[in-house]
Amino acid sequence: MNLHNASLAAVAVKSSQYPQTEIPEIALAGRSNVGKSSFINKILNRKSLARTSSTPGKTATLNFYNIDNCLFLVDLPGYGYAKVSPAERERWGKMINSYLSERKQLCHTFLLLDARHKPTENDVQMYNWIVSRHGYAVIIVTKADKIKKSDTEKNLSLIKSTLNASENDKFILFSAVKDTGRAEALELIKTFTEVVE
Ligand code: GTP
Ligand code: MG
Repeated sequence: MNLHNASLAAVAVKSSQYPQTEIPEIALAGRSNVGKSSFINKILNRKSLARTSSTPGKTATLNFYNIDNCLFLVDLPGYGYAKVSPAERERWGKMINSYLSERKQLCHTFLLLDARHKPTENDVQMYNWIVSRHGYAVIIVTKADKIKKSDTEKNLSLIKSTLNASENDKFILFSAVKDTGRAEALELIKTFTEVVE
């Protein structure tokens, strides 16, 4: 995996539209606006391959990004955005649930959490689901550039205690506008491609 070839390979709202390959996938889950699409762009060094917006609710489909035919990063719609209509929210919820519960090549689901905020009930629910499915959680703590360095430990502690995190979980402090966490996240992502390389 050298990041030379990255492209949006599929946009799906149902399973028949998922890519028909055996390539491993990592999904990105988190609240609307937490920085899931920005994470993909930063990892791939591409400014706007994944569409981002300051208005929450931007990503409304399952977007599969093929990286060098080694791995798909799967951008999911966010949860928890009050302004999305209840019908739309239910549709997104079902779409996310059926992908996460049925997809065989899903090798991990990264949970993105905003470094500034205490995780919500939905975040804790997603965290618990991830641990039950994958054995441990990978938490990308986003927008690290928006907190003071001196607050980092305090905020991380609040996140860990709210989740009731275990020692097996991995936490990566990340910023899509600075380089914080990019190398570490990329190293971890690469470990999931070793089976096929
Ligand atoms: P949905 O698709 O709506 O679920 O949101 P998302 O999680 O994909 O968030 P997105 O990547 O669209 O980012 C939301 C906003 O936060 C955008 O205005 C981004 O520019 C901004 N943003 C994302 N990551 C960072 C970060 O690390 N630092 C800063 N300062 N801004 C960020
Ligand atoms: Mg998005």
